[in-house]
Amino acid sequence: MNLDESVAQAMEADVRLLPLLPELLTDLWELGPSADQVAAILESAGVEPESTVLDLACGKGAVAVALAEQLGVQVKGIDAFQPFLQAARALAAERGVSHRCRFEQGDIRNLLVQEEQYDVALLLSVGPVLGNYEQTIAGLRRLVRAGGYIVIEDGFLADGVALLSSVEGYAGHSETLRQLTACGDVVAQEVICPMEQTHSVNQRNMDLIRQRASLVRASNPAFQQLIDEYVARQERETQILNTDVHCAIWVLRRA
Ligand SMILES: C[S@@+](CC[C@H](N)C(=O)[O-])C[C@H]1O[C@@H](n2cnc3c(N)ncnc32)[C@H](O)[C@@H]1O
Repeated sequence: MNLDESVAQAMEADVRLLPLLPELLTDLWELGPSADQVAAILESAGVEPESTVLDLACGKGAVAVALAEQLGVQVKGIDAFQPFLQAARALAAERGVSHRCRFEQGDIRNLLVQEEQYDVALLLSVGPVLGNYEQTIAGLRRLVRAGGYIVIEDGFLADGVALLSSVEGYAGHSETLRQLTACGDVVAQEVICPMEQTHSVNQRNMDLIRQRASLVRASNPAFQQLIDEYVARQERETQILNTDVHCAIWVLRRA
């Protein structure tokens, strides 16, 4: 899979829609979990000021900037998509934390061989770009010092949900925990987001996307069908998160 396809897959969009994606997502800063919630979780896990944080697939930098602001850490954000990186740099400047944040373009699949080790590595709402949870953790561990933290936001199948193609890639709760800890790391925190909370955030985001999509559609007639398909796909994904998949944030202490 090439880099554009990886971005499109993580954003649940058709690759041909990438040029319009920044416009479609103008109204959303957070492309994954609540940045304030991630900051609160890391603070309670004991992440200290001046810790070094690597935010893999950082999107528009909402989490990176919140961590720099609220915890006083040094963050390097990597993302493949230039328009998101530009937005991230602008956000850091607006909040006065440019000196604590660096945003660089890169393919996170190539990072896993680098030698530098961080205190914390984040992979939030990125999906299986690095493989299943076991493969993902095995890769991320190389970027984190012993005793540091690996933070993942993703999902697991709700009890009683059969493995359907619509929720492909997700495992049940115990299998997910087995994969996350297969390398010997310890789950320091697990925050399972209540489905009602996920639902209301997703509903609000869906309303913003729908409104913006109708404007973008009007000024880009050639893309109308792709835009409609994008909105329909986001609605389907939102529905799955309402019923079949629990979102969770896991903080692992690297062994
Ligand atoms: C749903 S967004 C999540 C962004 C951010 N982590 C957050 O929580 O707001 C997924 C991100 O993954 C990025 N991405 C997908 N594949 C990538 C890759 N191979 N290398 C770097 N970034 C990638 C996309 O560009 C996008 O910004």
